[in-house]
Amino acid sequence: MIQIRTAAASDGEQIYQLHLRAFGGRKEESELVERIRVSDGYVPELSLVAVEEETGEVVGHALISKAAVYDLDQPTEVLVLAPIGVDPAYQRQGIGGHLIREGLSRAEALGFKLVLLIGHPSYYPRFGFEPAGLHGLVLMQFVVPDEVFMVRELAPGELVRMRDERKGTVGELKYPQTFFA
Ligand SMILES: CC(C)(COP(=O)(O)OP(=O)(O)OC[C@H]1O[C@@H](n2cnc3c(N)ncnc32)[C@H](O)[C@@H]1OP(=O)(O)O)[C@@H](O)C(=O)NCCC(=O)NCCS
Repeated sequence: MIQIRTAAASDGEQIYQLHLRAFGGRKEESELVERIRVSDGYVPELSLVAVEEETGEVVGHALISKAAVYDLDQPTEVLVLAPIGVDPAYQRQGIGGHLIREGLSRAEALGFKLVLLIGHPSYYPRFGFEPAGLHGLVLMQFVVPDEVFMVRELAPGELVRMRDERKGTVGELKYPQTFFA
């Protein structure tokens, strides 16, 4: 059985190794998790692990942390989902989906209003994510195809509210410096 729970400090090494496996041996995502964990944007309840109950092995991890959408110089706090990884031996069993749904539900309960991400356009729409560009949001820090930049409302009406406040101009998602260090 797989259990989803809040990541503990003692899970750090297992989470690092898990992302190495999930991302085919590259270190970027593992190191990103370590940097976010010691940053201002870290929300402990939104770092979730999927654990094999019998062995205690971490087989999945999703991290949702703080970023901001800027209208000129005015920031609005939002969340970003990155990274998420599931051990290749455990993929396509619904674990990624459980981590995402639990993360979104916790984020909503904590009062956050929007979650953005860069990800597979065939995967995230099932969790309610839509192309962010449709809502007047742009991403300048990374050059990516439009359809991989997605947003999910946690508070109904938030996207319209933000757009009205900007008087129809674009809002730019800026990932914190933590993502680039
Ligand atoms: C993406 C990932 C987290 C999904 O976790 P998971 O536990 O396998 O996902 P679920 O079981 O909830 O959902 C399975 C569905 O995910 C989709 N999916 C999985 N990997 C995908 C990929 N690389 N591209 C597009 N869709 C993918 C498939 O549609 C699959 O559905 P299917 O079995 O009907 O084909 C996992 O595959 C992973 O760790 N991949 C490597 C790391 C990665 O790419 N992370 C995400 C970066 S955006």
